[in-house]
Amino acid sequence: MNVLVAKTANDAERIAYTLIKERISGKHDFVLGLATGSTPVGMYQMFKQDALDCSHVTSVNLDEYIGLSPEHPQSYHRFMKERLFDEVPFKQSHLPQGDAPDPQAEAARYEDLVRNLGVDLQLLGIGENGHIAFNEPGTALDAKTHVTELTESTREANRRFFDRLEDVPTHAITMGLDTIMNAREIVLVATGERKAEAVQHMIESVPTVDWPATILQAHPGVTVVLDGAAASRCAESLQARGQEAATRFFTIRD
Ligand code: GLP
Repeated sequence: MNVLVAKTANDAERIAYTLIKERISGKHDFVLGLATGSTPVGMYQMFKQDALDCSHVTSVNLDEYIGLSPEHPQSYHRFMKERLFDEVPFKQSHLPQGDAPDPQAEAARYEDLVRNLGVDLQLLGIGENGHIAFNEPGTALDAKTHVTELTESTREANRRFFDRLEDVPTHAITMGLDTIMNAREIVLVATGERKAEAVQHMIESVPTVDWPATILQAHPGVTVVLDGAAASRCAESLQARGQEAATRFFTIRD
């Protein structure tokens, strides 16, 4: 796990964006795993500002709420369309279908699709309780794409996108931890103090189902990009581990 600590959230986003841009540029075909939530929004803005050529890139998103159609304003389909796809054309884009009549069958279909495509690089955020995608604490470390019940804390954290807490779906289809671990490379971005505890566990705890992101320690190609606030609880251990990059703060200029 390579950990980079940027000075600001915007710098962290630019580091992650630059890494992704380097990976997809000049390739004939590329499969990029995308995430939702507030964290990637600044990066998607950079894709748009740069008019990054993604015409050879197939995207696969991590998850979707069960019960929301692709047209629903709070669906992840709409989120991706409005934040990225409307302005940056991809070769093809895939998300689980939240209103599929049989969510279990849809999860199995999506697992096959992602496995067959093979993800070159997966972008991740992290939940305050250490979840990645919608793999909540307690999820089996070998989980494939599945139907999951969201914890109250996750519904509460995502409530800001909805009018009322009651409107936040209770279930989602999510890539599993094993599905995510199958990506060739993973870039996880976390910014802000509210992520500090989850980030500390991800980096310092022995892998445990209680903090799902700890599984990333077992992946050979993970880059974690943090801002100072998200790194605030693990600065000492990063220095002790000799993470050279973490001993100083990066500042990125446009
Ligand atoms: C949701 C998404 C995750 C995301 C997390 C953090 O639960 N399913 O993929 O990483 O929220 O979101 P944010 O970036 O808004 O803090």
